[in-house]
Amino acid sequence: MKDIFSAPFIREMGKTASNMYRLGWDERNGGNISYRLREEEVGEYLDLGKVIREIPIGFDAPSLAGEIFVVTGTGKYFKNVEDDPETNLGVIRIKKDGKTAELLWGYKDGGRFTSEFPAHMMSHMARQSVDPESRVVMHSHPTNLLAMNYVHELDEAKFTHTLWEMCTECIVVFPEGVGVLPWMLCGTNSIGEATAAKMKDFRVVVWALHGVYGAGKTLDETFGLIETVEKAAQIYMLIGSRPRLNTIKDEDMVKLVELFGITNYRKDFLKL
Ligand code: 13P
Ligand code: ZN
Repeated sequence: MKDIFSAPFIREMGKTASNMYRLGWDERNGGNISYRLREEEVGEYLDLGKVIREIPIGFDAPSLAGEIFVVTGTGKYFKNVEDDPETNLGVIRIKKDGKTAELLWGYKDGGRFTSEFPAHMMSHMARQSVDPESRVVMHSHPTNLLAMNYVHELDEAKFTHTLWEMCTECIVVFPEGVGVLPWMLCGTNSIGEATAAKMKDFRVVVWALHGVYGAGKTLDETFGLIETVEKAAQIYMLIGSRPRLNTIKDEDMVKLVELFGITNYRKDFLKL
């Protein structure tokens, strides 16, 4: 059996959490990540027949039965994941009943997965139904995006359009736009269900006055998605209420998506 501390999926989780922390997206225990793993890759590092303990998940996830995830722990600080992955992360498998998680490794201090587990697992189910390659769900509290929530209308089309205007390549990185949910109580099945419903159409979902969810095929891709949205929000906040003398025009955005061969962009979010 190989040493799990050298497993690419554990090292990458640590590096990603450190990067998110250093960018100021994840203060204290803010944020959480879940990453769906392949049984073959986990089997190189762990005895898949050995379950440390079982944790009820509090909702039904039948389509995830047998799936293995590495998930950040609740109350754990992103700044500590890289140095102590065994305390701050857990490798869990959804049991056949779709209602229980089997802990295979981690949560060494007796901890458990993030309080946002419903939003993560429900988002995985939603994303996999539209993209079988989807493996990562990431939640964080990026500073500028959060600031923008207080001063910009929380209308999906308007919010997306403003972000697209802030950096030339935004429409290329998230052509489907961003979904926006109103403020809701976090850590509940209800916000999980609402997030998953949005995740059928968007890979980025803003939780108003709280933070953001991103989904993707890899940790890098998902990180890059949130990074791009946050960069656009940063430009918006830097401009502030100063008069705007120049902007990227909607017809220029169309030229961009055409150049990149993107057809699934939200035309209805543009004013053509
Ligand atoms: P957890 O510590 O339970 O992951 O919660 C952090 C968070 O950001 C809640 O939305
Ligand atoms: Zn949060």
